Amino acid sequence: MAEDLKITEGSIIEQYKDIIPQILAIIADERDLVANLANIVAALKEQFNWFWVGFYLVKDNELVLAPFQGPIACTRIAKGRGVCGDAWEQSKVLIVPDVDAYPGHIACSSHSKSEIVLPILRNGTCLGVLDIDSSALNTFDEIDAQYLQEVIDAIRF
Ligand code: SME
Repeated sequence: MAEDLKITEGSIIEQYKDIIPQILAIIADERDLVANLANIVAALKEQFNWFWVGFYLVKDNELVLAPFQGPIACTRIAKGRGVCGDAWEQSKVLIVPDVDAYPGHIACSSHSKSEIVLPILRNGTCLGVLDIDSSALNTFDEIDAQYLQEVIDAIRF
């Protein structure tokens, strides 16, 4: 596997179109879940430089912090708590343009201003979430959801 990521400049779509095939190639070669989650967050952080990129995995009916890049974060989130717990409970992608306006948002950092959370669904069961925080308002939209979903779908459990 190539060890250097090719980082692209350009529109957000151009960036996704360049980085996603690289991510898919990296994780296709490896069977270990933690190794793959770690490389996914590293690649996304390196390309987009978002404030925080990480996974939470469902363990014993809680979301537990998994590989991430960024400042330290809360380790456990209950179902229906915060954006992550809501995305888990609702099995739905949640896009939050302003975290301060989101009821129940869990502020791991005051620098986080907007957020997207994608549930990882397999046979209708949520196994975890991908959580991305931005230090700017209104960072994420359906384009992000669409491209990030391609990464979610490629993760093998
Ligand atoms: N803000 C999230 C908590 C996780 S951190 O952002 C890393 C939430 O409301 O679920």
